[in-house]
Amino acid sequence: MQSIPVMISGISYSVPKTIVTNDEIATLVDTSDEWIKTRTGIEERRVVSGGETSVTIGIEAAQKLIKNRNINPKEIDLIISATSIPSKAYPAVACEIQAAIEADNAVAFDITAACSGLIYAMSIAKAYISSGTYKKVLLIMTDANSKFVDWTDRRVCCIFGDGAGAMLLEPSKDGEDDIIQIDLTTIGKLGDYISLEITGKNCPLAERNEEKPLYIHMEGREVYKFVMTIMPEKIGETLKRAKLKESDIDYFIPHQANLRIIDALSERLGFTKEKVIVNIQKYGNTSAASIAIAITEGIQNGKIKLPCTALLTGFGAGMTCGNAIVKLREGIV
Ligand SMILES: CC(C)(COP(=O)(O)OP(=O)(O)OC[C@H]1O[C@@H](n2cnc3c(N)ncnc32)[C@H](O)[C@@H]1OP(=O)(O)O)[C@@H](O)C(=O)NCCC(=O)NCCS
Repeated sequence: MQSIPVMISGISYSVPKTIVTNDEIATLVDTSDEWIKTRTGIEERRVVSGGETSVTIGIEAAQKLIKNRNINPKEIDLIISATSIPSKAYPAVACEIQAAIEADNAVAFDITAACSGLIYAMSIAKAYISSGTYKKVLLIMTDANSKFVDWTDRRVCCIFGDGAGAMLLEPSKDGEDDIIQIDLTTIGKLGDYISLEITGKNCPLAERNEEKPLYIHMEGREVYKFVMTIMPEKIGETLKRAKLKESDIDYFIPHQANLRIIDALSERLGFTKEKVIVNIQKYGNTSAASIAIAITEGIQNGKIKLPCTALLTGFGAGMTCGNAIVKLREGIV
């Protein structure tokens, strides 16, 4: 069966309005703007407020894309939401977004791949579009990390922020496949490095279980080592499979986890500063949303010139990681 080439036809993002600066975090825990900036590169982050959730910011990102690209929501065949912080265990975030944007003909489901969410969701979209199963596929990457951060734990609370991204994929009209290469890796044995355990309460007729607080647990040093050990090799493999070299890549757009990780990866791979898209200063680590936010903002502020070839790199809880080499066309924002 012939594989149908895929086009990335739209991208957008939405972040909540409420800004929390490092100085404000220093009123909650024993830290400082200097410490956070030096160790993470983060200056401020956005957090949901009032009734905002990963669903509401996801809806906003989707609506922006629909408006900017003039899409009829009824034409969307599939919505995949990559989220690790749903507002409800069920219905899925994607189902709530489907209802809100009136994409009544779309099948909708969630995936959990944490900060690799965009890459995992893109690979699913590619499989469905290439096989002819679905045409218009909307991906929503949305996380409201601030709801499950322990705001008394200085090792974790300074890292995360909230945000959402949206991406539309569909069959390519000119035969060019925008997803040149996409590779995923999962190492479940390292799952304890970053986790959010939902223990709940056992049935009163059963043996009692240990209830745990509902907070993000992160072993920061181990995560750092994991990324620096595995990602350069995985990126090298992806470039090799695509038969490309670092010099063929116009922009390196990594998950915005930590500026030190981004700098170290870029240096190891030989990407100069102009080629690396970074906006962690303003948003912190927005998990699944971070790459879509970085792409959209980079295009809007002129740091990313289109058309271009970009290397997208995601890594996070699972542990999951993924790399995609993509073409970004003019007019996608
Ligand atoms: C989180 C991270 C910034 C912590 O930096 P680190 O240098 O590894 O710090 P450690 O956790 O080893 O702690 C070292 C000291 O700094 C302290 N510290 C940690 N966070 C602090 C903060 N926000 N302010 C001040 N001191 C802090 C610790 O309490 C510890 O002090 P102690 O030795 O007196 O106990 C770093 O590990 C990191 O960036 N890891 C990657 C995390 C990441 O990318 N996660 C997302 C992946 S998707």
